[in-house]
Amino acid sequence: MENVSLFVVFLFLNVVSDKRDGLEIVPVMKGDYVILHTDAAEIQKYHLIQWMFGNTVICTFNKTYQVPPILNKLEVDRDTGSLKIRSIRTEQCGTYNLQMISSTHTIQKRFNITIFDAVKSVSVMEGDSVTLESDITKIYDEIQFEYDDSIIAKISRAAQNFSTFDVPDGRFRHRLKLDNQTGSLTITNITNQHTGFYHLHIFNSRHTVHKSFVVNVCNVVKYITVKVGESFTLDTGVTDIQKYGQLLWKFGGNDTLVSKINGTHPVFSTHERFKDRILYHENGSLTIEDTRFEHAGSYRIEMSSSRNTLLKRFSVLVTGKIQKSHDLRGSQQDHFAAIIT
Ligand SMILES: *[C@@H]1O[C@H](CO)[C@@H](O)[C@H](O)[C@H]1NC(C)=O
Ligand SMILES: *[C@@H]1O[C@H](CO)[C@@H](O)[C@H](O)[C@H]1NC(C)=O
Ligand SMILES: *[C@@H]1O[C@H](CO)[C@@H](O)[C@H](O)[C@H]1NC(C)=O
Ligand SMILES: *[C@@H]1O[C@H](CO)[C@@H](O)[C@H](O)[C@H]1NC(C)=O
Ligand SMILES: *[C@@H]1O[C@H](CO)[C@@H](O)[C@H](O)[C@H]1NC(C)=O
Ligand SMILES: *[C@@H]1O[C@H](CO)[C@@H](O)[C@H](O)[C@H]1NC(C)=O
Ligand SMILES: *[C@@H]1O[C@H](CO)[C@@H](O)[C@H](O)[C@H]1NC(C)=O
Ligand SMILES: *[C@@H]1O[C@H](CO)[C@@H](O)[C@H](O)[C@H]1NC(C)=O
Repeated sequence: MENVSLFVVFLFLNVVSDKRDGLEIVPVMKGDYVILHTDAAEIQKYHLIQWMFGNTVICTFNKTYQVPPILNKLEVDRDTGSLKIRSIRTEQCGTYNLQMISSTHTIQKRFNITIFDAVKSVSVMEGDSVTLESDITKIYDEIQFEYDDSIIAKISRAAQNFSTFDVPDGRFRHRLKLDNQTGSLTITNITNQHTGFYHLHIFNSRHTVHKSFVVNVCNVVKYITVKVGESFTLDTGVTDIQKYGQLLWKFGGNDTLVSKINGTHPVFSTHERFKDRILYHENGSLTIEDTRFEHAGSYRIEMSSSRNTLLKRFSVLVTGKIQKSHDLRGSQQDHFAAIIT
């Protein structure tokens, strides 16, 4: 039996799943793209490769004789034999068995795909702290917090060991605090670098609980002052805009959609207030031209990638002089400033 390492690859996030008793627990979220790897270097060596879901054969094939499996929209990679599940659904969770038979050996692997208990979304202002609660009510053996494939905190009851670890690039330096009573992890002084998914695994002898958190960072408000008739730019401030699949620019207390951008096709508000005044930049930023008082107020951009949503807020102050047309003398001018928050 070959000693092969197992990896589970999600299209967007890589989660190192835990292996227990030869069974690989694969924690996913609904809609994730999951690939169960055969890790076979040369699948042509095997005269039989078989994937099973529970007791049901999904597919049996070899390199020369291939029956493409189409059961519940599953797919097998023709070159690697790996099983691909696009957009996983609850009913596709459970145990998957892989068997690969060659003239010299047999490889067996077991995967258990389970849906994370919950994904909790936490929005936090830049510079603030966020606590990821483990909500432990029962005795546990081990707790692990993961970020980007790295374990960032670990509690091992048996060893009385409570440790936090940084990721290789050092972004959590002096920022992690682990509460050894509640098993909760606090991340202090949050920046954009700390957004994304955090996975929590709670192990005990009988079962494993997986939770995940999405941490979104809301930047501090940026203030913009602009004169009537001039233009102003709402800058995303990010240079890697292609990372974000969707950008939503919103305005005002009612979150009126100003612009929606997915990929390269921006859609603009047809609202009278913004019609024909919006200039879209390649980097996702917007310029509002020929500003009027009605453009004062709060703007918000939501930049969503598969991993996280980044929020930025702008407060636009419009200043200018208007002539009072009902003033018969016609010469008096007043200073105006308008802001709605
Ligand atoms: C592939 O499978 C077919 C059908 O089961 C079988 O006839 C053939 O010998 C297999 N090929 C190899 C290389 O084992
Ligand atoms: C495997 O997955 C199923 C369905 O999610 C679950 O009911 C079962 O307890 C899991 N088995 C193990 C050994 O984790
Ligand atoms: C605690 O954990 C750290 C990191 O895993 C390890 O280096 C250390 O040896 C552990 N200490 C004990 C007492 O188990
Ligand atoms: C738990 O934390 C408290 C307070 O930080 C500390 O005094 C105590 O030694 C810790 N316990 C263990 C087992 O590390
Ligand atoms: C918070 O992080 C920023 C940027 O990483 C740093 O400049 C600042 O000193 C940190 N503040 C505290 C209170 O640690
Ligand atoms: C985005 O483009 C606008 C217009 O060219 C520019 O003013 C702004 O600085 C750019 N923003 C970034 C983050 O590069
Ligand atoms: C928000 O919508 C409500 C109902 O449509 C409207 O009465 C209110 O004036 C709107 N507020 C703003 C700030 O546009
Ligand atoms: C962008 O939107 C269009 C139309 O709403 C849709 O067909 C397309 O799939 C979207 N593209 C992405 C990358 O989401």
